[in-house]
Amino acid sequence: MTDTAVLALHVYRDGAPASLPIVLLHGFPLDHRMWDDVAPMLAGPGAVLAPDLPGLGASPSAEACGAALGRDDEPSLETSADAVAATLHARGIDRAIVVGLSMGGYVALAMLERHQGLVAGVGLLDTRSEADDESVVSHRLQIVSTVMLEHSLDAVAGMRTTLLGATSQVTRPELAGRLGEWIADQVPTGVAWSELAMATRPDRTEMLRAFTGPALVMVGEEDTAAPFPAARQMAEALRDVELVVVPQAGHLTAIENPASVAAGLNRLMARCAALVR
Ligand code: MLT
Repeated sequence: MTDTAVLALHVYRDGAPASLPIVLLHGFPLDHRMWDDVAPMLAGPGAVLAPDLPGLGASPSAEACGAALGRDDEPSLETSADAVAATLHARGIDRAIVVGLSMGGYVALAMLERHQGLVAGVGLLDTRSEADDESVVSHRLQIVSTVMLEHSLDAVAGMRTTLLGATSQVTRPELAGRLGEWIADQVPTGVAWSELAMATRPDRTEMLRAFTGPALVMVGEEDTAAPFPAARQMAEALRDVELVVVPQAGHLTAIENPASVAAGLNRLMARCAALVR
């Protein structure tokens, strides 16, 4: 493996060597900056780390990551999971609390499947463990073809508002501006690859049934993209879980209500720390 599988990693905080790091995986079509408000509120001695997923932010292209990992050309979240694991191993980390929001949650689930030993605890925010139905897959394929044909991000630019909950859309219009900037910074090929990778992901509910560590499932009360029933289904499959509904937030809880998200993650970290003591 060459080091092109190592992702750009934002270190919000260097941790004490013996403590568990927390790894924050971002949603689509964004990068690690979506954790900027949550990260400073995280307590405890562990490192706070957030990679940019393959092809997004400052990371290498997804194709380069796949090639470096010896994976075939097909976009898949397995490549993203392997690249996150390679990035952590390159930093000497072999155990961490893995937290993902939406697409980041799909990657966290793929890590549970492929790198279970790495995952000490898991946080699944505004995400789902089931695969997409046909209509969602067909919508994704439409976006991929538009992004590639136009070589532009116009097809996903509207997500700057649609990902936000109704309350944020009305009371915090500046959030859409912030999201719009982050989306505009992405590379069309990375966005298309990520969308295709999401379209082909399998149902990973069984990974939750097999996981015995501490888990947190969070969902914005106004999330229409991965609403409460998807969160409840994941929580029902987990053994040691806290299920939290985040008030006045839509799909991007970490941006819309960072204090509630940080409080939930702090409880998850405390539960994980109690187990390793
Ligand atoms: C995200 O926020 O990462 C996306 O909504 C994920 C998806 O399209 O399923």
